[in-house]
Amino acid sequence: MRVLVTGGTGYIGSTAVEILLTQGFEISILDDCSMGHADTVPAGVRFVNGSLLNVSEVADALTGCDAVMHFAGKSLVGESVEKPDLYHSVNVDGTRILLDQMREQLITKIVFSSSAATYGEPKVVPILETSETIPTNPYGATKLAIDHMITAEAAAHGISAASLRYFNVAGALKAKRGWLAERHNPETHLIPNVLRSTTDNPVKIFGTDWPTHDGTCIRDYVHVIDLIDAHLKALQSLGKPGHEIYNLGSGSGYSVREVVAAASAATGQQIPFIDSPRRAGDPAVLIADISKAKSKLAWEPSRDMNTMVSDTLKSMA
Ligand SMILES: NC(=O)c1ccc[n+]([C@@H]2O[C@H](COP(=O)([O-])OP(=O)(O)OC[C@H]3O[C@@H](n4cnc5c(N)ncnc54)[C@H](O)[C@@H]3O)[C@@H](O)[C@H]2O)c1
Repeated sequence: MRVLVTGGTGYIGSTAVEILLTQGFEISILDDCSMGHADTVPAGVRFVNGSLLNVSEVADALTGCDAVMHFAGKSLVGESVEKPDLYHSVNVDGTRILLDQMREQLITKIVFSSSAATYGEPKVVPILETSETIPTNPYGATKLAIDHMITAEAAAHGISAASLRYFNVAGALKAKRGWLAERHNPETHLIPNVLRSTTDNPVKIFGTDWPTHDGTCIRDYVHVIDLIDAHLKALQSLGKPGHEIYNLGSGSGYSVREVVAAASAATGQQIPFIDSPRRAGDPAVLIADISKAKSKLAWEPSRDMNTMVSDTLKSMA
């Protein structure tokens, strides 16, 4: 089976490529390398260095493929507030082009990288797939719009699709050619930033008076290897027309102080940090209910925060 991995030179997409290859899949990649890195492309993989917004490049990338894992997109919440049109264009319009070209080439299976940002500030945690979706930023709104678009495409044209709503993805994978890890610029994710913290430039803890056990925000993290395992299971589940949505997280959370403590334990030194005021729009607690992925995909994450932090640390060495 040949799978098109869009965004296959990015953090999560490059990890998917590596794991799919070890599982015997043939791979094509579509990525414009706006955020990814061409040096992650393994030998023997078909690489189209092109954009989701270019119809002929998308059609070229899809040629000969049987299924799509769609990771490509813009994913910085802050940037999406500044440039909502760019986010709508790349994420929503780009996915429309991808779905249209899949239909042209009779490709009916897609696994899509959705996000917990579709839910916004939940009234109840853990968050279920049936919880209200009221995104609080344009990034989350684009992911929700794509989920709706895929639902409509499945109803109208019989594709078989899974949207995977990731919470926070972390960790890294060692490939033969080196570590596949977060190499974002700017880096907005907590774990790499905690590990890069210095006394001159300490990581900020935003809010220490939240209604949580230690006053700091709680988030749900999933190791990138566990995440790709869920993608494989989701791909295997496809066949019948329809669209299923699954949350992917650990089902429990870690406070910011607990992440700093795990990083301090991994490095053997206290990570410098500075307590700072709350950021506007940050919910206190975001935790996934992952019972649907457990029961319907037989998926269970197995890597904890210590593994996520230590793998990220090794990848930075
Ligand atoms: N990292 C997380 O914690 C997280 C959480 C929830 C959802 N997601 C989603 O998972 C997906 C992958 O995330 P990531 O962390 O690997 O991000 P990433 O930025 O590392 O990867 C995205 C890839 O898409 C490519 N891309 C961007 N615009 C493109 C375009 N117009 N045409 C072709 N390629 C384009 C980039 O070059 C990059 O390689 C994204 O869709 C993101 O929204 C990530």
